[in-house]
Amino acid sequence: TATLLILPVFSYLLGSVPFGFLIAKSKGIDLRKVGSGNIGATNLGRALGGKWAKICFFLDLFKGALPMIAAGLLISGEPNQSQLWLWLLCGAAAIAGHIFSIYLKFKGGKGVATGLGVVLGLWPYYTICGVICFIIWVICLYIWKYVSLGSILAAAMFPIILSIEIAIVESWSFYQLWPLIAAAGLLTILVIYRHKKNIIKLINGTEQKAL
Ligand code: G3P
Repeated sequence: TATLLILPVFSYLLGSVPFGFLIAKSKGIDLRKVGSGNIGATNLGRALGGKWAKICFFLDLFKGALPMIAAGLLISGEPNQSQLWLWLLCGAAAIAGHIFSIYLKFKGGKGVATGLGVVLGLWPYYTICGVICFIIWVICLYIWKYVSLGSILAAAMFPIILSIEIAIVESWSFYQLWPLIAAAGLLTILVIYRHKKNIIKLINGTEQKAL
């Protein structure tokens, strides 16, 4: 449990690493001055193309997943209520790191790739719905070509899918697992809130489509 207490700090510092910003900087570009100004994979794609967007997406996903996998290994087995809270705190710290990066004067991205990493890493509770949300995101992108719309819809579906999953898997009780649903709801609100400029552009029809 002592190590579990240190993990949120480590998660925040790792989550803070702005991979998109750093990759663009290594090519002499300030990503905050390109396209949407966001430091995530989508905007890196606008600056450097799809290959770098994919690399950035996986790096941002990895920095969310790694602390969650580490916490999961430390807990090993059914977490008790306080271990579950600590586990969720690690995820919140990684996402907070990406959005409020210590290396970028507490500015940052929108939390989609890192959030997905966190979700996939919280095995087994979030993993299956994470995969489903990723599929929703891919389908939205395929249909409408807007990354932001896919992110918003996938984020909105996450707590709903999680609730269905918990209801279906009999051994998981709502009473024990309510922190998971509460945290999922908070993540949804945060991700959608970070997309407020995208929402305005989607409504106005000025949002940029993916290449
Ligand atoms: O993950 C962020 C994505 O949903 C939107 O990125 O650069 O179009 O604002 P961007």
